[in-house]
Amino acid sequence: MIERDDYLGRVNDALKEFVPTGNDPVSLAMNYSVENGGKRIRPMLVLEFCRVCGKDNEAALPFACALEMIHTYSLIHDDLPCMDDDDMRRGKPSCHVKFGEAYALLAGDALLTLAFETVMKADLSEKQKNDACLYLAKCAGINGMVGGQTLDLMNEGKSVTADELKKTDSLKTLALINAACILGCIAAGADDKMKDAAEKYANGLGLAFQIVDDILDVTGDSAVLGKPVGSDETNDKSTYVSLLGIEESKRTAEKLTNDAKDALNVFGKNGEWLKNLADKLLNREN
Ligand code: IPE
Ligand code: IPE
Ligand code: MG
Ligand code: MG
Ligand code: MG
Repeated sequence: MIERDDYLGRVNDALKEFVPTGNDPVSLAMNYSVENGGKRIRPMLVLEFCRVCGKDNEAALPFACALEMIHTYSLIHDDLPCMDDDDMRRGKPSCHVKFGEAYALLAGDALLTLAFETVMKADLSEKQKNDACLYLAKCAGINGMVGGQTLDLMNEGKSVTADELKKTDSLKTLALINAACILGCIAAGADDKMKDAAEKYANGLGLAFQIVDDILDVTGDSAVLGKPVGSDETNDKSTYVSLLGIEESKRTAEKLTNDAKDALNVFGKNGEWLKNLADKLLNREN
């Protein structure tokens, strides 16, 4: 069993093993972007859901790394000049600033495909691995993260409704967070009741996570965040902050966090760590 205190270290070690080393610019760019700096929220959710659903989470480590690979690819592409055009990520120059746009694009592509290769390396049943691949593909693609990034671009400069914004964020951010929680359940062979709780938790946590990200883009400190502030305003993004203002956005994130925590009651005391995580993410500074 991987202990909670070891989640960060074990995920970082495993990522180092799964991402190929090589001296070509794309391998270097992949390693550069995956290395340290990230909070590793999604892999931690995979490991912890596997644990609270009653199974040894060691076997879920490849699923956890797959989530982080897809997330990292989404950040590399999100920072490109044709997208948000941000030059800092995880406290260092963005991938395209360091390696150029073409190699950054390919590093993202390579991480996306490596994620599915990594899922298939898990020491779990073929059915579990198939289910994980299918679920992850759905959450990452046009009906998930990529679809949300599409709406995010289409919303630039527009006045959108709360429902449209919720749809955008549910896809661009919540979808991968949901995939993390559900892949943890799949690795544990969890029943429908547990999966349902994981889904409800992800619904609250995932939306709150993007709202806090939008708030930090205004109120945060770039040195602490490890990425630029003011990016959303520069790009004329439609965000919770531009729609509701800071205070109302904070209240909304608080409410969603409470909903997420309530969903975990089925796990009893076992759910405490995930409840604390939700609180920490609500009050984070990076
Ligand atoms: C940033 O995600 C992008 C969003 C979906 C809001 P994280 O805040 O999880 O970024 P890292 O992985 O810690 O760098
Ligand atoms: C990006 O949202 C979400 C992704 C799917 C990558 P943002 O564009 O707000 O993320 P940051 O602020 O650049 O990390
Ligand atoms: Mg973006
Ligand atoms: Mg961005
Ligand atoms: Mg942001």
